[in-house]
Amino acid sequence: MLKKILVINGIIRNVIVSPEASLADVLRKQLFLTGTKVGCGKGECGACNVIMDGKVIKSCILKMKRVTDEAEITTIEGIGSQDDLHDIQFAWMIHGGAQCGFCTPGFVVSAKALLDQNNKPTRDEVRDWFQKTRNVCRCTGYQPLVDAVMEAAKLMRGEVTRKQLWLNLPEGASLIGTETVRPSACAKVTGTWDFGADLGLTLPEDTLHIKLVQATVSHANILSIDTTEAEKMPGVARVLTYKDVKGTNRINGLAFPSNKGDGLERPILNDKKIFQFGDAIAMVLADTPTHAEDAAKKVVVEIEELPAYMSAPAAMAEDAIEIHPGTPNVYFELKTVKGAETAPLMKKLPNIVEEDFYVGRQPHLPIEPDVGFAYLDEDGKLIIHSKSIALHLHALMIADGIGLPLDKVMLVQNNAGGTFGYKFSPTIESLLGVAALDTGKPVYLEFSMYQQITYTGKRSPFWMHLKMGADKDGKIQALETDWSVDHGPYCEFGDLVTTKGSVFMGAGYKVDNIRGVGRTVATNHAWGSAFRGYGSPQSLFASEQMVDKLAVKMGIDPLELRYKNALKEGEVTPNGCKLDVYVIHQLLDKARPYYAKAKETAKEKNKNSVDKKYGSGISLLFYTCGLDGADSSEVGVEITKNGVSVISSWEDHGQGADMGSLTHAHETLRKAGYKPEDIKLIMNDMRITPNSGPAGGSRSNVLTGNATRVACENLLEGLKKTDGTYRTYDEQIAEGKSTRYDGKWTAPCIACDVETGQGNPISVYMYGVLVAGVEVDLTTGKAHVDKLTIVSDVGTIINKLVVDGQILGGLTQGIGLALTEDFEDLKKHTTLTGCGIPQIKDVTDDITLIYQETPRPLGPYGAAGVGEMPLSAPHSAIISAIYDACGVRITHLPAYPEKILAGIKKLNK
Ligand code: FES
Ligand code: FES
Repeated sequence: MLKKILVINGIIRNVIVSPEASLADVLRKQLFLTGTKVGCGKGECGACNVIMDGKVIKSCILKMKRVTDEAEITTIEGIGSQDDLHDIQFAWMIHGGAQCGFCTPGFVVSAKALLDQNNKPTRDEVRDWFQKTRNVCRCTGYQPLVDAVMEAAKLMRGEVTRKQLWLNLPEGASLIGTETVRPSACAKVTGTWDFGADLGLTLPEDTLHIKLVQATVSHANILSIDTTEAEKMPGVARVLTYKDVKGTNRINGLAFPSNKGDGLERPILNDKKIFQFGDAIAMVLADTPTHAEDAAKKVVVEIEELPAYMSAPAAMAEDAIEIHPGTPNVYFELKTVKGAETAPLMKKLPNIVEEDFYVGRQPHLPIEPDVGFAYLDEDGKLIIHSKSIALHLHALMIADGIGLPLDKVMLVQNNAGGTFGYKFSPTIESLLGVAALDTGKPVYLEFSMYQQITYTGKRSPFWMHLKMGADKDGKIQALETDWSVDHGPYCEFGDLVTTKGSVFMGAGYKVDNIRGVGRTVATNHAWGSAFRGYGSPQSLFASEQMVDKLAVKMGIDPLELRYKNALKEGEVTPNGCKLDVYVIHQLLDKARPYYAKAKETAKEKNKNSVDKKYGSGISLLFYTCGLDGADSSEVGVEITKNGVSVISSWEDHGQGADMGSLTHAHETLRKAGYKPEDIKLIMNDMRITPNSGPAGGSRSNVLTGNATRVACENLLEGLKKTDGTYRTYDEQIAEGKSTRYDGKWTAPCIACDVETGQGNPISVYMYGVLVAGVEVDLTTGKAHVDKLTIVSDVGTIINKLVVDGQILGGLTQGIGLALTEDFEDLKKHTTLTGCGIPQIKDVTDDITLIYQETPRPLGPYGAAGVGEMPLSAPHSAIISAIYDACGVRITHLPAYPEKILAGIKKLNK
C-alpha cells in the first residue's frame, strides 16, 4: 500500500492506495468522485479523462504508483456544479452535447484543458485536441461538441453572455420545435448523472460481485464443469452453473409461429453445448470483483469442440451439422410476392442489373459497457436494474427461465450510456436474476469493454443477391431478391429482422412486381440483436446500390433515376403499404442543388489532383416508426399538489426520452396553464410505470408520444369544470374525483403475411435524402467523407436539439458502417479501436442538416420518429461517392482501404 497526498479539485486529500490501482478507481471507488467514468478501461475513449498538473490524463490506465505526491488533479466535479456551471458545461447543454452523457465529463475536462491554454481555438484546433486526448463519442457525431467548445470560448472571452444564449420562451409558449435543453442535461454535464456502475458503488456492504466463466471457443459440447477449486478460493460465496438455475434456464426468444425452432434455445448458463464465443457457462459470486475474477479462472470446463459455422453460407452448407439439434440451421423463411411473376418480365426488359451484397456484423460500441444489479425487495419481488430498453418485454422473456412468476420480476432502467439497440435483447438480466434468487443477496455485474464487445448481440449480417429490371425509360418494372440473415446462434427477433428484407429492399420506389425469399440462419458467430436501422441498412444498401448501378448502366443521373421511380401519391411500398405522406420528390428537389454542388466541387478538385480523387453520391433514406402490426403504448398521468406527474416506461438510451416525454405532456397540459417546471417525469421502473413498450423501431416518439398525449387529454377532461376551466388538485380531491388518468395508443396496423411479405404493418414513416462527398487516396485506398448534406422529413420536429443530435449521430454511425466498423475477427475486433469506431477526425465537420416538416396524420402533433432514418442508408451514398471518385464499387462492407486499393489495381490492369 502507498500513502499519497493529492490535491484534488483544490482540496488536499490523503489516500491509502494499492500501487497497482488505477487513478480512476481511486477517484471513483475510494473518493466517490463518480463524475469520472470508465468506458474502455484501456486508454481508448477518454471517458476517464482528468487534468493532472495541467495535462489531460487517462485515469483508467494511470497506476497510483506513477502519481506523484501533491499532484494537482482536476475532475469534472472541480470544473463546475449544477448550481455553478462552468461556461463549457453551459455551452454543452445548449448545443445538445450530452445525449447519453457517458462521454460528457471526459470531454468537458479535455475542453477545459484546451481552453486554459488557448481561449480562441479554431474548429480544427478543437478537433485536433479531442483527437489527441482520444475523446470518443458514439452518440453525437462530434459536431455539437465542437460547437459547444467554440461557444464556451466566446463566453469565456466575454463576447457573448449566457443570458443571450439561453432560450427564454414566452409564458405559455409551446416547446415544440424549440431548442429547449433536455431535463437531464445539467446532471450529465456535471458528472452527476449516475450510471449503473455509479449506483453499484452505493449498494449494501454484503453485495456479491459476479464474474463469468465464458466460452473461449465458438461451438462445442460441454462434457463437464468442475467448480471444486473455485469454490475454495478466498471470498467466494457461490459458484453457479445451469444446475443452480431454478427455472427452465432458457430465454424466451418469442419466436414467430412459422419459426421452425421453439425460440427457447438460448440458455442462461450453458448446459449441454457452447453456441458462441463468450457464452456464459458459470458465475462466480464473491465479496470483491477481484476475488470473483480469481476464482472464475479456477472453474474447469471440459469440452468436445465442434465445427464452428461463422457465417450464413457456412451454416447452410449441406454437410453442416445442426447447431441446435432438432432445428435446421435455416429455421425461418419468408417470401415477397407482389404483382406479376418477375422471371418472364426480366427476359423482356432492356435494362437489367444484378449483384451480390454483404452488410456485416456492425458492433454497437456504446462507451458504457453493460452493467446492472439485482436484489429481492421486501415483498419478495426480484428487482433487476440494467440498461434494458424493453423493461416489460424482458421480464416476459426471462421469467420462466429464472423460475419466477412474471408478476414477481420487476425491471428498472438505470441511466444508460448508449445502447443503439443492443439492449433490445436481454443480456445480463437473467444472470443477475439467477444469482439474486440463489443467494438472496444483492448482486452486481459489470462487463469490461472486451466482454461488452464479444458477448453482446451485433447487427445481423445480410448476404443478399438482387436483380433489378427497368424499361427503356428507366422505370423499374421488376425486382428479384434473395437474402440470408446470419443471426448467430440465438433466434430472438431473428425472424423479425428477416422480414425487413421484404420491407426495405426497393423501399421508396414504385416497384410493382417483386419476387423474393429471405431466410434466417443460425450460425456460431455473435447472436444478432437490434441495431439502429434494424434490417434497413442491410436491405437499403443493396437496393440503393442497384438503383445506382442501373443509373450508370443507362447513363442517367442517379438523382434523376430516383426521381423517376420515387413513390407518388397512392403508390405502395414493396410490402404493399400506402405511405403516410408522399414527400420523396420534394426531398429530392431540395437535395438537387446540393448534389449539383457536390458534383461540381468534386470535378474542380479532380482537375488538379493526381493521388487523390473526389466523388459524390446520393441515397434515399427510409425508415418506419413502430413495431410491426398493432403496436401499442400506455402512459399514466397524475395531478399532484405540485403539478402533474407523467408516468411511463419510455426507456432512454440517451436519445432524449425525457425531452420527448416532457414536450408531449406539456403541449397538452399547457392548455390548462401548466408550465414545463410543473411537470415531473417518473420513468422506467416497472413497479410504478406502465407498459409503454420498448424503445426501439423509432416507435417511442409516435407510440408513447401519442399515449402521453391521450393520457394528458384524459386528465384535462377529468379536471374540466362546466365553465371550461380546470379544477386544481385540492378541488379535485374535495370533489372526490380521480387524480390519476391513463392513456393508451395503438397503431391501426396488421403485420405482414410471411407467405407474401404483404400487409400494413406501419402507420408512420420517415424519409431522407443524403448527398455525400468523399476523397479517395489512390495510393493507399483510404476513403474519407468530406461532406454530408441530408434533407430530412421526420414530420413535426418535437425538439430541434434532439432531432439534430439523432441525425448527426446516425450519420456518423453510417460513416463507420461504410468504412471501418465490423465485428468479424474474434481476435482483432475486440476493442473500440479494433472495431473501427469513428474518432473525431474520421467524421467530417461539414455536415448540413435541412428539414422539411410534413405533419404526419397519425403522429403526435404531426411528429414521426427520427433515430433510425439517418442510419438506414447513408453508407450507400458514401459507397456510391467512392465509385464516383475512383470507379470501384464496394459491395461487401466495410470499404476497407485494401479493398478499394485492390479494386483500383484491378481497374488499372
Ligand atoms: S480511456 Fe479510460 S475509460 Fe476509456
Ligand atoms: S453522448 Fe457521447 S457517448 Fe453518448
